[in-house]
Amino acid sequence: MEQKEQWGSRSGFILAAVGSAIGLGNIWRYPYVVYENGGGAFLLPYLIALFTAAIPILLMEYAIGHKKRGSAPLSYKRLSDRFEWIGWWQVLVSFVIITYYMVIIGWAASYTYFSMGTQWGDDTQSFFLSQYLNVGEDFWSFGGIQWQILIPVILVWALVYWVLHRGVNRGIELASKILMPLLIVLLIIFTIRAITLPGAMDGLDVLFTPDFSKMLNTDVWFAAYGQVFFSLSLGAGIMITYSSYLKKKSDLANSGMIAGLANSGFEFLAAIAVFGALGFLAVQQNVAVTEVVSSGPMLAFVVFPNIINAFPSLNSLFGVLFFGTLVFAGFTSAVSLLEPGISAFKEKMNISRKAAVNWICGLGLLVSIAYTTRSGLSLLDIVDNFVNKFGILFSALVAMILIGWVGKQLNPLRDHINSVSDIQVGKWWIVMLKFISPLILSYILISGTISEINEPYGDGGYPISALSIFGYGLVIALIIGAFLLQMKKWPPIQSSDEKERHKHGA
Ligand code: PFF
Repeated sequence: MEQKEQWGSRSGFILAAVGSAIGLGNIWRYPYVVYENGGGAFLLPYLIALFTAAIPILLMEYAIGHKKRGSAPLSYKRLSDRFEWIGWWQVLVSFVIITYYMVIIGWAASYTYFSMGTQWGDDTQSFFLSQYLNVGEDFWSFGGIQWQILIPVILVWALVYWVLHRGVNRGIELASKILMPLLIVLLIIFTIRAITLPGAMDGLDVLFTPDFSKMLNTDVWFAAYGQVFFSLSLGAGIMITYSSYLKKKSDLANSGMIAGLANSGFEFLAAIAVFGALGFLAVQQNVAVTEVVSSGPMLAFVVFPNIINAFPSLNSLFGVLFFGTLVFAGFTSAVSLLEPGISAFKEKMNISRKAAVNWICGLGLLVSIAYTTRSGLSLLDIVDNFVNKFGILFSALVAMILIGWVGKQLNPLRDHINSVSDIQVGKWWIVMLKFISPLILSYILISGTISEINEPYGDGGYPISALSIFGYGLVIALIIGAFLLQMKKWPPIQSSDEKERHKHGA
């Protein structure tokens, strides 16, 4: 067994945690989620989700990883032998996410290149769908690998692999220390340019004009919780893994607050930049802003190239800046999405870090190939929808119930946070995790499931067979997989470590 790896400094940990949080979710996802769910009125569900659920859960994950000092499965096992599967479930969730997340970074890398000379031409939609993705007619005829996608995807995998191979300190921490400040500078440049474009204010009006009627809609709450959890990298074993690399005496509460607020600040700014730019495009095309907004991948890869075409000058440069920002933001998040699997695999199989990196990255790359076929876009959209809702949110709910009610671990975890932190976490934390969040999340998940069944995802655009297999089927397979992984025996070294801990009453 190798020595347990550690962050070099507290700021290294915070930057890595922020690097994980700030990703495609902030630039590519947040703006359209806000727009689709009531604009300014979305802010209320968003803030409620952030303060009553996400930040408390973030601290809970920090506390579990820091106190139990293991990968997600091992840390959960150390809380209670019956909980290990939750850790595996979350590891599997992060693994599924990374397999398509890398593909989006691959698209962004291609588009960084296409920006030079705005190679997408005037019809950016048909460039994206027909020329680049080469989307097929029928979901089930996958139609072979699209090399123009696979090659950049392999390239991104290779870079991420290299960083992970270098380890926690010389790889993840160093990459975060370089990329995070760069990202913030890029975003500031981009925001200033966007809000000084003619028409920008019309875009911001649309973003901030609240549609309060939407707040009564449970789907809006579902979206708010989904966004906050995705954006803060919760429910995927990441924060447990990252905090397990902290030194014994490290502040948790303060770091959690910084990470939570930095992430929201970043996405807020990104939304302002994106909507400012959309307002500009609307003015150029003489249409309403609502006509130019698009959801999902289309916003970044169809609408943005259009905006860049319309820029008064330096089009290529701003294209490279925008897509480069997406690549950089995605990169440190991608690294973080792989780390839960690497650390869990390394511990359970009792292999070296490098061997675990080889296995997890190799397997991940293989699965990624499915998204580089002609049905990749649809597959990605289906998996993304189901894994977020019924992977991240559901596993976080189950974790809260098991820890709060079954294992009765919240008080000891709070004592742990308070013993190492400057800011003391009050009783409110327990109230949120034991009562408020589980109640709200259960309600959202139940009503969300009912509406998902009544109105299958994608407005009839996807065959039910595809939704059953890659949506519901996948969600169930992850839970079964988690139990199977729990059944495999731990190597003696982890078990003896276990006895040691019990002896010392840990
Ligand atoms: N938080 C990152 C983002 O917003 O893109 C990456 C991410 C991590 C997404 C973990 C989802 C997740 F479960």
